[in-house]
Amino acid sequence: MNFTQEINRRRTFAIISHPDAGKTTLTEKLLLYGGAIHLAGSVKARKTARHAVSDWMEIEKQRGISVTSSVLQFDYEGHRVNILDTPGHQDFSEDTYRTLMAADSAVMLIDVAKGVEAQTEKLFRVCADRGIPIFTFVNKIDHFGRNPYDLMSELESMLGIRACPMNWPVGINGKYQGIYERETDTVHVFERSGDHGQNKLAVTSGKRTAPEIQALLSEDVLAQLEEDIELLDVAGDPFDAEKIAHGKLTPLYFGSAMTNFGVQPFLESFLKMAPAPAPRRALEETVSPQNEDFSAFVFKIQANMDPKHHDRIVFMRICSGQFEKGMSVLHRQSGKTIRLTQPQQFLATERTIIESAYPGDIIGVFDPGTMGVGDTLCDPKHVVTFADFPVFPPELFARVAPKDSLKRKQFLKGMRQLSQEGAIQIYTQGEGRESFIIGAVGQLQWDVLQYRLQNEYNVTVELIPLPYSVARWALNATPEDLTGLGTSMIVYDNKQRPVILLANEWQTNWLTERNPGVTFVASPPIVTVDQEEK
Ligand code: G4P
Repeated sequence: MNFTQEINRRRTFAIISHPDAGKTTLTEKLLLYGGAIHLAGSVKARKTARHAVSDWMEIEKQRGISVTSSVLQFDYEGHRVNILDTPGHQDFSEDTYRTLMAADSAVMLIDVAKGVEAQTEKLFRVCADRGIPIFTFVNKIDHFGRNPYDLMSELESMLGIRACPMNWPVGINGKYQGIYERETDTVHVFERSGDHGQNKLAVTSGKRTAPEIQALLSEDVLAQLEEDIELLDVAGDPFDAEKIAHGKLTPLYFGSAMTNFGVQPFLESFLKMAPAPAPRRALEETVSPQNEDFSAFVFKIQANMDPKHHDRIVFMRICSGQFEKGMSVLHRQSGKTIRLTQPQQFLATERTIIESAYPGDIIGVFDPGTMGVGDTLCDPKHVVTFADFPVFPPELFARVAPKDSLKRKQFLKGMRQLSQEGAIQIYTQGEGRESFIIGAVGQLQWDVLQYRLQNEYNVTVELIPLPYSVARWALNATPEDLTGLGTSMIVYDNKQRPVILLANEWQTNWLTERNPGVTFVASPPIVTVDQEEK
């Protein structure tokens, strides 16, 4: 296979959803089709183990939640599929956000009974801002669910996206019995059996008019289906590949991940339509994946994945050129040339050393602490710089210090490494910048910080919550120039820029009004390498 073919067969995407919509279950089922795991952790197995294949850290196992994002790869019918698994918990939007920067498309998973939920909306916005194609899978139709027309209008009213139904649920009043595939005029009817129909469904498939299908469905259901088929052209938009490619129209599928109903047709249809790796904007040029000079950006760092060896793994998305084990690349931010030895790909806790990789692929490499999130790696002869990512504005702040002052050295090391991972924002204060303030999007990030400092660095820390909820960077003024600072606090971010912590929106507006010539921003301005060098 040549370079171009390798690129074109790749599909790199993320699944976005509100917790509990079934993301873990769907991911497992997709992996099963790819033959990546022998038996996709069945829901039962999950219940006992309290974690799924894509969960990683100890804390996740204990809590049964997915905290970090992992990357899963498999082959299906000639495609090389990279699934970027994103954490489901709403406190981890920061990590999720950066992971979405590495995806070429997204699958939005919605619970048929619940529709669009808070986290679905947040994640959708990030994808919509990037203009990547979004495919919608309405899950759990083996259960009682909402009317599909309502769900479609909710997509439009809450997310501002119109849907193009690829299939349609068969049934009346939310009691679904199967799906109708529009393109092939085929009906798949499921029958619940034993075990309350929980994990296995018997399925009969056939053309809509076939006697075996007609025999399984009541007259009312058949009449409703006829009506729906006529209505669909009006209710849903016609298929428009151009609009789908720009995230203006979402192909809509119904199915059930747990019972494996509609998953394979979804996978096949998705792989056909989802885009191959797209060009990326860099500061110097738009980098085509077909460009033979290597380039990649770091979107995630994870320290101590294996607690026995204090390792630090940097995950990067390849944007152009063929990657080869042991190749030397330029780390744009430090100016150092780095040899990428022992590149790895991941299937949850299993790691494999790889020899080569292509644009669209995600690889992990060991790094002692040179690289940070958002950094660029490129061919030294063809220098490009991908813009740093914006960060999520934190809303919770706390002072953090080691309980035992003798542990200060480990504490500093832990804080430095965790800050580089970018999972939490760390600010400093004081003459010698000796005290630490952390900013988080949600409470769970604090718990994770405490837990990790304890487990990985052997430091017990104390967190004292601070009465602030807003952080602002003043673009064209120093704190000394400002009036109306009141009870706010000045801290410094990792680039030594002053940050103003404010109690609430009211105080923020007050500050803005008192300093009319100053521009205040909610996230730090993006710094390019050249600006830093000046
Ligand atoms: P998440 O990663 O999005 O948070 O969701 P996850 O896959 O863990 O699924 C959340 C719950 O929804 C699980 O139930 C799972 O079994 C159930 N589920 C997923 N897909 C379907 C489906 O198609 N139909 C039905 N009826 N249920 C589905 P749970 O009891 O919370 O499972 P467990 O984690 O306790 O095993």
